[in-house]
Amino acid sequence: MTWKQMFTSSIGQKFVMAITGIFLITFLVVHVGLNACIWANDNGEMFNTGANFMASMLVIRIMEVVLFAGIIIHTIQGLVLTAANNSKRKVGYAVEYGNRGSKWYSRSMGLLGTLLLLFLIMHIYHFWVPSRLGGIANIKPLQEIDYSNGLGKQYHNLYLEMIQVFQNPLIVILYVLGCISLAYHLMHGFESAFRTIGLHNNRYLKMLRHLGRGFAIIVSAAFAMMPISIYLGWVK
Ligand code: HEM
Repeated sequence: MTWKQMFTSSIGQKFVMAITGIFLITFLVVHVGLNACIWANDNGEMFNTGANFMASMLVIRIMEVVLFAGIIIHTIQGLVLTAANNSKRKVGYAVEYGNRGSKWYSRSMGLLGTLLLLFLIMHIYHFWVPSRLGGIANIKPLQEIDYSNGLGKQYHNLYLEMIQVFQNPLIVILYVLGCISLAYHLMHGFESAFRTIGLHNNRYLKMLRHLGRGFAIIVSAAFAMMPISIYLGWVK
């Protein structure tokens, strides 16, 4: 398959969606794991140390560029596929199968992806922009640490940023809605991505489906509990 076919043929497009999707899933595992450190209830010490250690590693900084490229490619390709699917069949089927053919969220991946994109724009504005572009300056660094690679001597208090952002109930609600969109997007996306790369052996299909649903629910619920627990003062 040529590079052109990869982005223009329907199988190539599905493959690109699967590879970028699996990459984004691995990012979510790291992200939710690191963020879960806020529940250590140590005034953000563990979370800030982890976040700043990650930010100081050159390889993570390079992966960040790959991550943003992955998000952009996944989004554009997803919108192209959704538009192609919508234009293929203008007249509905004579028999309406409703949920028997496929679940509503499998048929709404474009919509769920768009909601997630809106969530991500808000989210990047809340954390990534102040952290990378200096808007976090009003937050006192916890301590100075000198990483051996010479990078990242500034110690951002991202934990305090979280505490401040999640004092607003409207923002907490928008985050929870974002996490619900993520849950449904992953509920179909996880299984679909692994099927596309060839994991559709009958023996493993059921396992993959359960794994996908479990992952979608656990990861999204953990993310949603973060703004909720901060807002309700469960995290100190
Ligand atoms: C709802 C709970 C969440 C919290 C409290 C949270 C917190 C954060 C924080 C503090 C950062 C900044 C990290 C830094 O600048 O070093 C960040 C970055 C980011 N988050 Fe989240 N996040 C949450 C959910 C999500 C979800 C559900 C997604 C994806 C769907 C996501 C995607 C991202 C991305 C793409 C970045 C920028 C990447 C980077 O900093 O390298 N986050 N998040």
